[in-house]
Amino acid sequence: MIIAIDGPAASGKGTLGKRLAHHYGYRHLDTGVIYRAVAKALLDIGADLTDEARAVAMALELDPEKFGDPVLKTQKVGEAASVVSAIPTVRAALVNFQRQFAEGPPGAVLDGRDIGTVICPNADVKIFVVADPKVRARRRTLEARARGEDADEALVLADILKRDERDQNRATAPLKAAADAHLLDNSHLDIEGGVRAAIDIIEAVRAGRQRV
Ligand code: DC
Repeated sequence: MIIAIDGPAASGKGTLGKRLAHHYGYRHLDTGVIYRAVAKALLDIGADLTDEARAVAMALELDPEKFGDPVLKTQKVGEAASVVSAIPTVRAALVNFQRQFAEGPPGAVLDGRDIGTVICPNADVKIFVVADPKVRARRRTLEARARGEDADEALVLADILKRDERDQNRATAPLKAAADAHLLDNSHLDIEGGVRAAIDIIEAVRAGRQRV
């Protein structure tokens, strides 16, 4: 089974994806990390983020062993990832990696922006996570402070709105819910509540399929 979780920045889709994978015993890929890894590789060598040939080369040389690097989670790298991910050839270079991950046994949860629409249009269950931007900014700020980073909530909100705008309006694979995605608004839910709501959706889809 393939579970596709999409949604905007700081919607909690990454944590949700991880928790669902654990619940079902599936593998998990936070696809934001792969765009962040490409962005970090460019930043590390001081290359321009719009240097297409270099960015594609980095995308084809991804090393999953480095996906755990905490630097990938920083706002600076996230902002750079949003720029890099708008380059169509970079997205194309990353398609196979994601599809191969999705297809292996026993099942996989992938979270990102275009999993249900582009990467795995045949996913068994698609969930599109949304939350009020102010709520997302609050959560992101608290997370950053918990990591010991200095975070200004107003700036975090501005960053989230800018990223939403760029992710939703780019020409290739813009952030949008697939027609057959289930919407999950977690603005008023804690992590546990979000996980329960997602499991309810997945179980309802499975039950519906078994009845047919
Ligand atoms: O979810 P995130 O903040 O880790 O994502 C970082 C950036 O990568 C985000 O601005 C958009 C991009 N991204 C994407 O374009 N497609 C994905 N499937 C995942 C992330």
